[in-house]
Amino acid sequence: MRLQGKRALVTGAASGFGAGIAQRFAQEGARVACVDLDEPAAAALAATLPGGAIAIRADVADGEAVRAAVDRMLELTGGLDIVVNNAGVTQRPRRAARVPEAEIDRLFAVNVKSLHHMCVHAVPALREAGGGAIVNIASLAAIRPRPGMAWYNATKAAVISLTQSLAGELARDRIRVNAVAPLLGRTGMVATMFGDDAEGALERLAAEVPLGRLCEPADIAAACLYLASDDARFVTGVVLPVDGGRLVG
Ligand SMILES: NC(=O)c1ccc[n+]([C@@H]2O[C@H](COP(=O)([O-])OP(=O)(O)OC[C@H]3O[C@@H](n4cnc5c(N)ncnc54)[C@H](O)[C@@H]3O)[C@@H](O)[C@H]2O)c1
Repeated sequence: MRLQGKRALVTGAASGFGAGIAQRFAQEGARVACVDLDEPAAAALAATLPGGAIAIRADVADGEAVRAAVDRMLELTGGLDIVVNNAGVTQRPRRAARVPEAEIDRLFAVNVKSLHHMCVHAVPALREAGGGAIVNIASLAAIRPRPGMAWYNATKAAVISLTQSLAGELARDRIRVNAVAPLLGRTGMVATMFGDDAEGALERLAAEVPLGRLCEPADIAAACLYLASDDARFVTGVVLPVDGGRLVG
């Protein structure tokens, strides 16, 4: 049990990678708060997890909602040791100039500004606990961008930059900040990205991956577990690609 006694807040935990992370953290002994816009799905997952997992509804783009979610978690668990900023949204593939401004604003609010809200509302609790770990879910798209996804790619590049800046800023508080950069996986996001042709497109992309498949929630959960655990106690400011060798093949 690599997270025994830890209290972990995972955003976007109702689906996809976040559900995998919440599940693995709970199996490793953490008490997990599954934070999501989709409260019924978060509650359904929390009910299946060991260790007294809880579900909290919040829009991570809304500072007040993040404050309330952290407060609720502290009320129920007495503290906070780990935050996984996983909740995110993607865009429909389109040329950069054709993406409506409102969509760009929402991408940045959910994928980037949410990290600001966590800094304001969760970092004091991590400090109070004597230190902790933050894991941000970036994307391989930030490192190896594909055309048609410029604004999503840019939000994830911002997540990487913030991970590095915050790691430097928070080290004195014994708070480590790292990021995971997943390759494409079959989650709730694929419908937005590929529409009706999702399966064909995913198969074509999987064939280009040196290790021969796309990313699965368990792959991301294992990387987050390492970075959140004491095994990574001297690791901060890194970005860990979980990509089956895509960057090198
Ligand atoms: N699936 C991929 O191919 C892929 C690749 C690289 C990175 N990522 C990143 O992984 C993370 C998880 O995405 P996923 O692929 O599991 O997608 P998903 O759509 O399956 O899950 C996202 C979850 O976040 C929740 N969510 C969305 N907006 C929210 C908000 N404003 N407040 C609270 N919760 C919100 C959704 O309800 C959902 O439960 C995202 O940050 C995404 O950008 C995904």
